Amino acid sequence: MIKFQAPIEGPIFIGRSWEEYIKMFNLDLNQLQNKKILDCAAGASSFTSFMSKNGFDVMAADLLYDRDPKFLQSRCEEHLNALIDSLAKMEKEFIWSFFKNLDELKCHRMAACKDFNNDYQLNKGKKYLMADLQQLPFADDRFDLVLCAHLLFIYDHRLDFTFHQKAVEEMIRVSSAEVRIYPLVKNKGQKSIFVEKIRDNLPENIKTEIVRVDYQFRRGGNEMLRLIK
Ligand SMILES: C[S@@+](CC[C@H](N)C(=O)[O-])C[C@H]1O[C@@H](n2cnc3c(N)ncnc32)[C@H](O)[C@@H]1O
Repeated sequence: MIKFQAPIEGPIFIGRSWEEYIKMFNLDLNQLQNKKILDCAAGASSFTSFMSKNGFDVMAADLLYDRDPKFLQSRCEEHLNALIDSLAKMEKEFIWSFFKNLDELKCHRMAACKDFNNDYQLNKGKKYLMADLQQLPFADDRFDLVLCAHLLFIYDHRLDFTFHQKAVEEMIRVSSAEVRIYPLVKNKGQKSIFVEKIRDNLPENIKTEIVRVDYQFRRGGNEMLRLIK
């Protein structure tokens, strides 16, 4: 088995809980009834599992969704443990409001991962599709709302501007109305250099807005970007 090396460098296979998603993206569930939603680069998030169990029309895409559930469970546990080890060395750089401490974060995220995995076992290839964000396997305007968390902007030292631009173009293409991206900052609260560059390079018909959200773990991570068609 390939061992994941701390400190964490590239995109890692973990997932936020549905409760975190609701806050990160300012989601109002009443407004999402009858809407088609895509979470891309969804990782081990419990958002799709929770939403579909509650009657919402939701799909998830990720580069690793061709892997079997056992592999993803062990990768998620391994990456979560590596994340906890690295967070323990820099606890003061994070905001402890949603989570009181590292133990709480670990329990919460492990539960999200298990929830994801149970649903993935049943719905791999149905709700959970393997896809590269730069080339999504969906028709134009297929979804009303497309969400993307913790892949764009935070890895701008590894994923170049062309990757960001292609991914954003694809998410806009498959959405009929709106794309939301969270967060806009990297560690230490530094805003990604690509946020304004992306906004400046969009087609004229796309309006953008940076919106305050009621969630913050990374310093300065209380904003999302809305792209409105
Ligand atoms: C840090 S996780 C974020 C998971 C979830 N969105 C969240 O906020 O908790 C990043 C995810 O991006 C996926 N990923 C990396 N590159 C990708 C690409 N080119 N296309 C689709 N998914 C990708 C990884 O497999 C991983 O699951």
